[in-house]
Amino acid sequence: MRIFLDTAVIEEIKKGAAMGVVHGVTTNPTLVARAGHKDYKAVVREIAAILPEAAPISVEVVSETVADMVADGKRFYAWAPDNVIVKLPTNAEGLQATRELAKDGIQVNMTLCFSANQALLAAHAGVTYISPFLGRLDDIGHDGMQVVKDIIEIYDMYGFATEVIAASIRHPLHCIAAAKAGAHIATIPFKILEQMLKHPLTDKGIEQFAEDWAKSGATNT
Ligand code: G3P
Repeated sequence: MRIFLDTAVIEEIKKGAAMGVVHGVTTNPTLVARAGHKDYKAVVREIAAILPEAAPISVEVVSETVADMVADGKRFYAWAPDNVIVKLPTNAEGLQATRELAKDGIQVNMTLCFSANQALLAAHAGVTYISPFLGRLDDIGHDGMQVVKDIIEIYDMYGFATEVIAASIRHPLHCIAAAKAGAHIATIPFKILEQMLKHPLTDKGIEQFAEDWAKSGATNT
């Protein structure tokens, strides 16, 4: 399972990329607003310069008609053609816009997916990525991870190439469950990347080794 960062905070993307464990970034209007950015194009280009070459960066449209979604998608794609994946909502307009964008070779991450049926239709429309929001399903008392599992089972059964991005991840256990379910990607907030890495026994072990080494008087030069 590859890791995308679900953030528009440049410092977080720099830190994640420096660790060599970030394969892409997903943004949305909320994340861009929360990071205080005013110029989406500049942010996307800055992110592209930080990530490994051709790393996918999802850029979300807010327009509502097919024509506007296609026009926005084409404009976003031109910002960084090696990286930009257009994020469209899982609705009729989004499906139609996916088909239109595909004619120009522009890839889509279909977002705000909350059911396996939606994911099946998105795959038929030819999306590159589907993003089931498992945390938001959990929030309303549904089993978000079950939806992820159902999508993966259906895609495997019928040989769809669409990759599943486990999204709306809320805690490190979601990452383990998504990986075990066979999600191709998890897109996670930076805080969760830190939580995945952190273990008190690792920290304690490092301290102990340093202390013992200092006491030993040994050299390693
Ligand atoms: O990638 C989807 C994500 O940004 C939504 O997360 O926490 O707002 O449900 P959340």
